[in-house]
Amino acid sequence: MEKLGLNQIREMYLSFFESKEHLRMPSASLIPKNDKSLLLINAGMAPLKPYFTGMQVPPRNKVTTCQKCIRTGDIENVGKTSRHGTFFEMLGNFSFGDYFKEEAIPWAWEFITEVLKLPKDRLYVTIYLDDDESFDIWTKKVGVDPSRIFRLGKDDNFWELGVGPCGPCSEIHFDRGAGNISSADEFVKAADEDRVVEFWNLVFTQFDKDEEGNYNKLAKPNIDTGMGLERIATIMQGKNSIFEVDTLRAILDEISKTTDTKYGSSEKSDISMRVITDHIRSVTFMISDGILPSNEGRGYVLRRLLRRAAKHGKSLGINGEFLYKLTDVVIDNASGNYPELKEKREYIKKVIKLEEERFAETIDSGMQILNEYIEKLQNSSTSMLGGDKAFKLYDTYGFPIELTQEILEEKGMTVDLEGFNKEMQSQRERARAAREETNYMGAEDTILNKIPLEIETEFDGYDVLDLNSKVKILIKEEEFVNQLNEGEKGVIITEKTPFYAEMGGQVGDKGIVTLGSFKAEVLDCKKNLAGKVLHFVKVISGNVKVNEEITLKVNEQRRNNIRRNHTATHVLNEALRKVLGDHVHQSGSYVDDDRLRFDFNHFEAVNDDELEKVEKLVNENVMKVMDVKTQVMTLEEARESGAIALFDDKYKDEVRVVSVGDFSKELCGGTHVVNSGQIGLFKIVSEAGVAAGIRRIEAVTGPRAIAFVEEKNNLVKEISNKLKCAEKEILHRLDVQFAELKEKDREIVELKSKLASGSENEILNNGKEIKGVKLLTGMLKDIDGNSLRELADKIRSKAGECVVVLGSTCEGKVQLVAMATKGVIEKGVHCGKIIKEVAAVTGGGGGGRPDMAQAGGKLPEKLDKAIESCFGIVEKLVK
Ligand code: ALA
Repeated sequence: MEKLGLNQIREMYLSFFESKEHLRMPSASLIPKNDKSLLLINAGMAPLKPYFTGMQVPPRNKVTTCQKCIRTGDIENVGKTSRHGTFFEMLGNFSFGDYFKEEAIPWAWEFITEVLKLPKDRLYVTIYLDDDESFDIWTKKVGVDPSRIFRLGKDDNFWELGVGPCGPCSEIHFDRGAGNISSADEFVKAADEDRVVEFWNLVFTQFDKDEEGNYNKLAKPNIDTGMGLERIATIMQGKNSIFEVDTLRAILDEISKTTDTKYGSSEKSDISMRVITDHIRSVTFMISDGILPSNEGRGYVLRRLLRRAAKHGKSLGINGEFLYKLTDVVIDNASGNYPELKEKREYIKKVIKLEEERFAETIDSGMQILNEYIEKLQNSSTSMLGGDKAFKLYDTYGFPIELTQEILEEKGMTVDLEGFNKEMQSQRERARAAREETNYMGAEDTILNKIPLEIETEFDGYDVLDLNSKVKILIKEEEFVNQLNEGEKGVIITEKTPFYAEMGGQVGDKGIVTLGSFKAEVLDCKKNLAGKVLHFVKVISGNVKVNEEITLKVNEQRRNNIRRNHTATHVLNEALRKVLGDHVHQSGSYVDDDRLRFDFNHFEAVNDDELEKVEKLVNENVMKVMDVKTQVMTLEEARESGAIALFDDKYKDEVRVVSVGDFSKELCGGTHVVNSGQIGLFKIVSEAGVAAGIRRIEAVTGPRAIAFVEEKNNLVKEISNKLKCAEKEILHRLDVQFAELKEKDREIVELKSKLASGSENEILNNGKEIKGVKLLTGMLKDIDGNSLRELADKIRSKAGECVVVLGSTCEGKVQLVAMATKGVIEKGVHCGKIIKEVAAVTGGGGGGRPDMAQAGGKLPEKLDKAIESCFGIVEKLVK
């Protein structure tokens, strides 16, 4: 057997099926589209479901893919075993009502025995119990010895996932052991012991399982096969573990280098290294598909994987961020087939690093909480931590249960594992229930998705805004109807339309449809899952019937505003790249007749200077009055021409490229102005962050931009009226007013201090002697705490041995201060004690040292009483 690299095997598989007339499609994103039943793509067939059910027409009836997949159901086993991983690639060949078993089985055999050259005496086949048809093909057509075929039951050889397409399957296995296996029981035992590994599953999707559990035979059966790329690579490279496969081992070696830990030196560190190897692959791919760490859904899965890996890094003795650096090995080993990884290298690294930093903060709070738990356990007589608490640490702080266990063990304590597992189980059930609420196909089960596939609506609205066309279908509520009447709401589907259906971030057109006395308002235009164009209407007058020829007229003014905003979005995209750098990629956009919204990745706020540059660059290109051209070309040609691709449909044979002069070139299906000059004016309205690493710019064009400028202009006018000066005088006038205010502030301070020093003499002259201690008191107005203290200090320094107590009413409150010299303190005076009692009189509290104390009170009207009380207090204190 030749030792083939993982990347080599992938290419061999895909080109083999291309030679069998399959269309090679790139892997779909890990984020499922229109499928609420899944959080992440978990099988090669998952993104192709609409083709299996006939909801959408596939680009070809024979397709082959290598699909990136994530499964986290067995995450606890990752690292502990040789074959569990959360990230894997699945090779598959698919038939959508085209070929069936007769071709699928022999092609599979041809590939593994003639292309991969696996020795036949190491291969076993399993089939479903009563699937004689497959048995005959395997034995007669392919020539497999019947003794190497075992019939297994529904658990092993029937593939289904909830409701939807399913069927019996046939699996191909590789035997790593010696000696023949002669019975199904022996075979199952060998599989349990990992001697035999299943590596290719051929599913014969013959049924569509419904909600009641009935298996309805499909009109045309399909083929869905899945071969785990890492598994077959393990076999081809003669290894025992997926972590020994070339591309994974490269990651593992890098970890070994970073942590200075030899792989194989201990079971504990080996587990950590395997966990990191697996998780960093998942994390890198998830981020490249636009997932960001968060506390729910996919973002939570990402966060959990990332934190788990970081924690294992800590166990290996790494302090500080390190995972982001491992991204390079992952990307270098995979970007041949996933070019998006290379494009987003720096972005992926930044997201990981930020999350590592954030985790460094949470892990400390998690440790603090765990320490509190430990303390409580130590104070009570139990030594077992409750399962709910361990679960909280796991769930909220990303503490793996093993870590909690380890820390507790050191203190001679344990975890209530049963309780923990119960919590885990109920969380899983909650997740499952959430998934089951939506059906397996994930499609909304509405009449809108039941429009016959052969009904096609031609979009003719790039240049034309009104045309006549025949009504093909009318829908009212949940029914197909023959007529829509005055006052009713419904959906109209025609043969042709000038209405743009919402897509690629551009809103749907509005307008009217008419025929004689019939008139309906088109409120919105959208596509269903199969891409059928739906005009949502409200009939204003008359009625319309199926097959009538109606006039469809798009609201031109609204469309023109949408066009301006859409073209401006393209120019903005390029301007951002020029000003901020090539790392800028669109991560969402929305264009309607009012404004445009553009989301992109960038790690800090775009500053005013940069925003000004961007806006200026866009307007320069508007003023260059450049032609906007659209061309239809192959994806290859588009790529060569340097067009920015934003479409998901990257496998489409033909794509539409929109260019604005020689400034911008993008793949786009939207509607645009014919010349950049029609944008008129471009103004940025706001810039803000919407998620970690994602910024959003909102802007307006044309009439809205002019209105925006007018609004600002009016504001300036109003300000100049209020300030009673000419517009160009505004700033000068403000400067003058600010200077005046400053001068007034200074005067106030001066007056206050004059006021205080006036009181100073009065207080100094009106002291009283109590048992040989000089007591000076004073009541002031509008003097704040600081000034009061300064005054008291001054009096104390001038009066010789004394105690000073001052009070002031200021802004409706009372301020009190007491100060004493050394000599009177020795006689028993204590400012803290004095102020405490004095403050109490004014409804406040406070205290302080023997030589200085301050307090506040709430009752200004009690100030004189409070000051009065000093005499008695001092008398009490002095010995
Ligand atoms: N859909 C099948 C699987 O995932 C091929 O095993």
